[in-house]
Amino acid sequence: MQLKDQVALVTGGGSGLGRAIVERYVEEGAHVAIFDRSHERIEEVTRALGGKVIGIAGDVREMADNKRAVVECVKAFGKLDTLVGNAGVWDWSKSLVSTADDALVSAFDEMFAINVKGYVLAAKAALPELYKSKGQMIFTASNASFYPGGGGVLYTATKHAVVGMIKQMAHEFAPHVRVNGVAPGGIGGSNLAGIGALGQAGQKFSELPLNDLMKQMLPLERAFHAREYAGAYVFFANRKDNQPGTGGVLNFDGGIGMRGFASANMGAELVEAFGNA
Ligand SMILES: NC(=O)c1ccc[n+]([C@@H]2O[C@H](COP(=O)([O-])OP(=O)(O)OC[C@H]3O[C@@H](n4cnc5c(N)ncnc54)[C@H](O)[C@@H]3O)[C@@H](O)[C@H]2O)c1
Repeated sequence: MQLKDQVALVTGGGSGLGRAIVERYVEEGAHVAIFDRSHERIEEVTRALGGKVIGIAGDVREMADNKRAVVECVKAFGKLDTLVGNAGVWDWSKSLVSTADDALVSAFDEMFAINVKGYVLAAKAALPELYKSKGQMIFTASNASFYPGGGGVLYTATKHAVVGMIKQMAHEFAPHVRVNGVAPGGIGGSNLAGIGALGQAGQKFSELPLNDLMKQMLPLERAFHAREYAGAYVFFANRKDNQPGTGGVLNFDGGIGMRGFASANMGAELVEAFGNA
């Protein structure tokens, strides 16, 4: 029970990685407020997890919705220890050259509004309560926060912006509130949505052959499920183990940066030397 009696607010907690974080936090003894734009998903998660969670339907792009989420959380559970900023959308690696001029402006605004403004507004709304509790913020970054090829120009720019945001907030809020990030790679069990302005609303992340893609691309040679990423969020929320950390972003992506010039089949020599384990 690493989070016994702790209270967290998770944006995008209705699906994929956010839902896995919510489930793991509850397992670890926390109470959790789920803030998501999908009523159906909120209902499904709150039904499954019972009295340990509440749901707030709203849009992370709206200051009023972010404030309401914090107020509802504190009303239900008495305090807030951890904000997890996580709600996000993808651009399906749409290249700049293939993006029509008239779609680009609205696509840029939509992408930055959800992936960056959504985090900044959540932080602003949660800060007074986190100051009181000496709590922490944890933001979902991405492999696209460090490397190209995990999205198009728009997505990659938003996720790089998230790293700068984390560092600046860590600087501004120390020593009272710590701010860290987790940078996952491809996530199994995700329903990551595209952007409406690019006509991607109907595309389904779950239809990607994620296992095959990750096997080819990652040194660790497989896709990881949302549940396997959730432990990193426990680490950053757990008050016992992470007190020295602020401004850090954990690369938690199957080793993308460890590939270098080599093919993904890097451990072949070990198999030759030691046989199949
Ligand atoms: N899926 C991946 O492979 C992957 C890889 C690296 C990073 N990420 C990041 O992980 C985070 C979670 O994504 P996921 O893959 O779990 O996707 P997901 O779509 O399964 O979950 C995201 C949730 O955010 C909610 N949401 C989206 N826009 C919102 C808004 N404007 N207001 C309120 N809620 C909103 C959605 O309703 C959804 O429930 C995102 O920040 C994403 O960029 C995903």
